[in-house]
Amino acid sequence: MADIAMKNIVKQYGDNDPAVRGISLDVADGEFMILVGPSGCGKSTLLRMIVGLEEITSGDMVIGGDRVNDKSPRERNLAMVFQNYALYPHLNVYENIAFPLRLRKGTSDEEIDKAVKEAAETLELTEFLERKPANLSGGQRQRVAMGRAIVRDAKAFLFDEPLSNLDAKLRGQMRTEIARLQRKLGITTVYVTHDQTEAMTLGDRVALLKKGELQQVATPRELYENPVNLFVAGFIGSPPMNFLPARVKGDELELPFVTVPIPSDAAEAAKQHELLIAGIRPEHFVDASSPAASDSEGTRFSADVDVVEWLGNEQYAYIPFDAPQEVSSKLDELAKELDGEKMRSQIVVSLDPASRVREGESAELVMKADRMHLFVPETGENLRHSDDGASDGS
Ligand SMILES: Nc1ncnc2c1ncn2[C@@H]1O[C@H](COP(=O)(O)OP(=O)(O)O)[C@@H](O)[C@H]1O
Ligand SMILES: [Mg+2]
Repeated sequence: MADIAMKNIVKQYGDNDPAVRGISLDVADGEFMILVGPSGCGKSTLLRMIVGLEEITSGDMVIGGDRVNDKSPRERNLAMVFQNYALYPHLNVYENIAFPLRLRKGTSDEEIDKAVKEAAETLELTEFLERKPANLSGGQRQRVAMGRAIVRDAKAFLFDEPLSNLDAKLRGQMRTEIARLQRKLGITTVYVTHDQTEAMTLGDRVALLKKGELQQVATPRELYENPVNLFVAGFIGSPPMNFLPARVKGDELELPFVTVPIPSDAAEAAKQHELLIAGIRPEHFVDASSPAASDSEGTRFSADVDVVEWLGNEQYAYIPFDAPQEVSSKLDELAKELDGEKMRSQIVVSLDPASRVREGESAELVMKADRMHLFVPETGENLRHSDDGASDGS
C-alpha cells in the first residue's frame, strides 16, 4: 500500500483550456478519498493521471515516496477497478482472480492457489470459485474484480464511477459493499463520482472539483456544515441549501419574510456589503408549533406555503419568494455550474412528518438564523467559513 501525493498537477489537451488546473492533494496510506464534481470538471482526467493512462502536463505525482510521472501503469502497480468489471466470461471466478498471477513468471501453482483462496475468503467468494461471471450478481462480479486487484498486491484501488449504470436499489447495496470492503482491506482508494450521496457516504474525505480546480477537501461532515463557498454549499446536500437575498441593514439582515440579527462572527465582514446571499439548510427551519421550536433558538416568521410533500418519514414545504436581479442572476449562474436546472426562488423547509402545515395556508415557522451561511454574491465566498474545521454540529 502507499500514499498518493499530487503536487500542482496540470493537464492540458492541445490548445484547450486546461482540464486540470494545478491540483495539489494528498491521499494518506489507507485513506478512502472521493473525487466529486459536476460532469467535465476533470475527475476522470485526474484519476487517469494517477494510474498512468494519461500523460501529466506538469506537476509531480508521487506514490509511496516515488515520483511516477515517467513510469508506466504497470510499474505504478495500481488497480483500476472498472465500471464494467472487465472479467473474462469464459474463465471461472478462481481463474479470473488468478489471472494477473498467471501472467507473472515464476509464481508457482501453490502460491497462486494460496493467494486466490485468501482473497476469496476476504471477499466472501469462496463458494463461487467455480462459477462463471455470467452466473454472478453485479455485487459478486465487482468483488471478483477487486479480488484480482488484491492478489497482485496493488498499492491502491482506483474507481471511476463504478455504480453509475446500476439502478438505484443495486447502487445502494453496492455502495455499502464497497465501503465495507475498503474498511476491511484498509487499502488506499481514490473513487470518482458525480453523485453526492456516494461522495457523502463512502469516503473518509471528499475532494470537490469545479472546472479543473479543487474547491475544498474535507470530511463529508465538514463539507456539509462548513462549506468554503457558494458552489460547495450548493453541491452538497439534498434537498439543497436554500439561498436567499439578504440586505444588510445595520446589525440586521433583511431576508424575504423575516429580519434576523447578523451572526456576530460575520458582523464586521457583512457590513462591507449591501447585499449578501444567505444560505440556510431545509432542516434549519422548524414548525413554530412543534416541540422542537420551543427548545431551539431562532426567529419566528410566517409565510405562505405553496406546496407540501409528505413522504412518510419526512415532509417538505415550499415557499416561493421574489429575488432581486443581482441575486437571481448569481443563482442562475450557480445552477449552470452545478449542471442543474435553473433554481426556482423558493424556500424548501424540512418539517417533522407530524407537522400540520398545509398547502395554500400561511405557516408559522422558526428559522435558526445562527446556522445560516453568508455568501458574497460577486465571489461566492462564505463569510462564515471557519478554517479550524466544522462546527461541533450541536
Ligand atoms: N482526450 C481528451 N481530449 C481533449 N479533451 C479532453 C479529453 N479527455 C477529457 N477532455 C476534456 O477535459 C475536461 C475534463 O474531462 P473529464 O476528466 O472526463 O471530466 P469528468 O470525469 O469530471 O466528467 C472536459 O472538458 C473534457 O471535455
Ligand atoms: Mg469522468
